[in-house]
Amino acid sequence: MSCQCGAGASCNKDMGTPARPGEASITLTIDGQNISVPAGSSVMHAAALLDTAIPKLCATDSLEPFGSCRMCMVEIDGHRGYPASCTTPVTPGMVVRTQSEKLAKLRRGVMELYISDHPLDCLTCSANGNCELQTVAGQVGLREVRYGMDGANHLQEQKDVSNPYFDYDPSKCIVCNRCVRACEETQGTFALTIAGRGFESRVSPAGGTDFLGSECVSCGACVQACPTATLMEKSVIQWGQPERSVITTCAYCGVGCSFRAELKGNQLLRMVPDKNGQANHGHSCVKGRFAWGYATHPDRITKPMIRRSIDEPWQEVSWEVALNHAASEFRRIQQKYGRDAVGGITSSRCTNEETYLVQKLVRAAFGNNNVDTCARVCHSPTGYGLKQTLGESAGTQSFDSVMQADVVLVIGANPSDAHPVFASQLKRRLRQGAQLIVIDPRRIDLVDAIHARAAHHLALRPGTNVAMLNALAHVIITEGLLDEDFVAARCDSEAFGHWRHFVAQPEHAPEAMADVCGVAADDIRAAARLYASAGNAAIYYGLGVTEHSQGSTAVMAIANLAMATGNIGREGVGVNPLRGQNNVQGSCDMGSFPHEFPGYRHVSDDVVRAQFEQAWGVSLHNEPGLRIPNMFEAALDGSFKALYCQGEDIAQSDPNTQHVTAALSAMECVVVQDIFLNETAKFAHVFLPGSSFLEKDGTFTNAERRISRVRKVMDSLGGKADWEVTVALAQSLGYAMDYTHPSQIMDEIARLTPTFSGVSYTALERHGSLQWPCNAAAPDGTVTMHIGEFVRGKGRFMITRYVPTEERVNGRFPLLLTTGRILSQYNVGAQTRRTDNVAWHEEDRLEIHPADAENRGIVDGDWVGVASRAGQTVLRAKVSERVAAGVVYTTFHFPESGANVITTDNSDWATNCPEYKVTAVEIIKVNQPSEWQQRYRHFSRQQQELLRQGRGESVQ
Ligand code: SF4
Ligand code: SF4
Ligand code: SF4
Ligand code: FES
Repeated sequence: MSCQCGAGASCNKDMGTPARPGEASITLTIDGQNISVPAGSSVMHAAALLDTAIPKLCATDSLEPFGSCRMCMVEIDGHRGYPASCTTPVTPGMVVRTQSEKLAKLRRGVMELYISDHPLDCLTCSANGNCELQTVAGQVGLREVRYGMDGANHLQEQKDVSNPYFDYDPSKCIVCNRCVRACEETQGTFALTIAGRGFESRVSPAGGTDFLGSECVSCGACVQACPTATLMEKSVIQWGQPERSVITTCAYCGVGCSFRAELKGNQLLRMVPDKNGQANHGHSCVKGRFAWGYATHPDRITKPMIRRSIDEPWQEVSWEVALNHAASEFRRIQQKYGRDAVGGITSSRCTNEETYLVQKLVRAAFGNNNVDTCARVCHSPTGYGLKQTLGESAGTQSFDSVMQADVVLVIGANPSDAHPVFASQLKRRLRQGAQLIVIDPRRIDLVDAIHARAAHHLALRPGTNVAMLNALAHVIITEGLLDEDFVAARCDSEAFGHWRHFVAQPEHAPEAMADVCGVAADDIRAAARLYASAGNAAIYYGLGVTEHSQGSTAVMAIANLAMATGNIGREGVGVNPLRGQNNVQGSCDMGSFPHEFPGYRHVSDDVVRAQFEQAWGVSLHNEPGLRIPNMFEAALDGSFKALYCQGEDIAQSDPNTQHVTAALSAMECVVVQDIFLNETAKFAHVFLPGSSFLEKDGTFTNAERRISRVRKVMDSLGGKADWEVTVALAQSLGYAMDYTHPSQIMDEIARLTPTFSGVSYTALERHGSLQWPCNAAAPDGTVTMHIGEFVRGKGRFMITRYVPTEERVNGRFPLLLTTGRILSQYNVGAQTRRTDNVAWHEEDRLEIHPADAENRGIVDGDWVGVASRAGQTVLRAKVSERVAAGVVYTTFHFPESGANVITTDNSDWATNCPEYKVTAVEIIKVNQPSEWQQRYRHFSRQQQELLRQGRGESVQ
């Protein structure tokens, strides 16, 4: 039986203890009413299903029951005393009473003790009206407190205000332990403990004297769990309790967490993870939970601007003037240089609807296929590799699937930093006993996670993924660990035969690959055996797989492993790309690549093209257009002259920065649509103000193909949502787009895209979210792909010969640089750098192994020059054993770091995805910025000045 209130997917009721799976097979009576619940349910949960509220303080349904506050006592026939309903499991025929004179007296007595050590400042407390202690005091009818405040108490204890986003006020703590359990069970960080005993018991952050200095990663789970104002968001302390909320989707990473944006009037007060969120189940990380202040940062540009050249001040103009100017420039350039001299870049941070419109504008209004997206530089090899092997360019599972996995192989991904909410779920599964294999050059957090250590960490040399994956496959084939039945039934036998012969060659044996990979053969063999012999084995991978010259090969090698061991097509297994940006899956789905219409259908397919021609009322080009790197080349050759770039910062995110900026400088018209004057905008001639995710309606598609609603929380600061800007630009170009709401765009997408044909805003309201394919064959969406049959029919094994990258170490460049992200910052940092997340990471640092540092006379904090074949930059060193000797590592969140000044032009053979993860470098101690950095500073200052002049601001 379930709750009958009718709230359905939006229910926020706290059921006290977690729901248990299974049949409602145990029937009991509570206050005279019968109820049936699954075995293992608590009496409290059963009562909540009957809408019977039992007072509680230490229980909440996101955490396992703890039984410390004694507020939830009940009477049970045949039981002595007054058992706690939260920790008492139901039994058949149990008869429970939740209310009696005696219970009321006992509960009042307990509450009296709590209140006697609690400040009685409810009216001025930040939790007033939303405090469980206050509510329960009312529930139990507490009218007087017999004990004075004169005895020992905690009322004078000092607040910890060190965390930028929440305060800890110990005077209000009732030591219910919910925060400690949230940090353990929900987040998996174990940063909190209860120090002391009895009266001395206090919540204490581990590894530091205060929250900021502790191991806390600021996920907010403890704040969420706290029933009082002890742990409270600073924004609520400052502005008061919210009055209304809007459900929307986080705009940071590919986990796609659902949030309640809580507001007072029109002011956003906090983002609270939605317990009904199907990707996050009420959990969050510091970015989505707290780092939303950038949306109203003073750096936001809210007025359209134009200028003739990048040496001139910006001029603020009306939308009409800016759009007409951009359109006339595009048309002028096409007339002068030809139809193909212009193109567009879609954004993986924008909604599906917005991305769809940009590619439509390029194909229909520009009349060419020169459209690409930032997935080019991250997961384009995923699209290619999975399409070739499995038949669909997407991950196979939902995140929840990991809870069925027995062995998890994480390769080239660092979920704790880049996909934190998934990392918490994975760690939960590992604490339940699943085993972990990590293949990564760095000792990432998962390797040593508390109560969840990796069974194997294969710290391979950057650039050797394919050699490693072939070696794993070799063990599986030669030791007979493959799933013959699965392969025979589900895969193309001829392709399998070729592949089997290929990987069985001695050259792929771990013993032959050990030196190449830098990993002992025995470790490779042990990891292969563990993966292949698990009941359910799942692979999760990230940019450490794709951003290589053999990125597509590695993706195919991963798919080969999953097929060979039968680990595909059910829960707990699969091939799971951890997508970087919030909507990178969606931007690919929406036809952002130059060779594909929405739904991954080639532009040369006459039947598909005819459908789009009919729907869009134009004839469409049948040849693929330019990829982003080709656009740069063509710009430098003089044949590509104008770019419409929505929500991407290619001057910071793409490799070989000096090459990118030279290409931008060679164009006659660069139109940037963004919320800030980003690095690319410094080379722009037209600036169209973008809108943050809080300012618009639409959908994002996360890494599990889950389409979720983005809902408008506040008005667009610039007056137009991004989709409205593209509509207006199309109209200025003379191509009619007449949508009045993004739902109409989604309806068009559904009409033209077979995997989306069942998607609509109405269906999304009904389901909460939908995983594509969603169509007549799968009206409720598809949780797990390739069940029974691969999308392409038979799974196709691909030959994955290891070809070493051309980027080699030598005497001049003896170290290998690899790059990645850190938890508190996001991608190019444009958003997170404008939040208090800089408290954790205010600059990019270069991690270097102690031996390499010592050889070069470098100590922690020294400025070091990093030189590669492409360029030089200067960073501060962080001496760390997280990286192996011979490898250095940095993040790329700050433009001035110039991480991409040193990355090279090498790219994936199939997709041109840049080889960010392997750059041969040398490190030396220096005492001044690199030449590039000095030029960059000068140029940036100049551009800020031109912006100020345009806005009529005085020079600071
Ligand atoms: S914010 Fe998260 S990591 Fe920090 S103490 Fe709370 S639950 Fe633990
Ligand atoms: S800080 Fe809050 S959640 Fe933690 S023990 Fe105190 S009252 Fe309970
Ligand atoms: S895990 Fe990703 S989607 Fe979830 S809150 Fe963090 S950044 Fe947002
Ligand atoms: S709610 Fe049951 S003991 Fe605290």
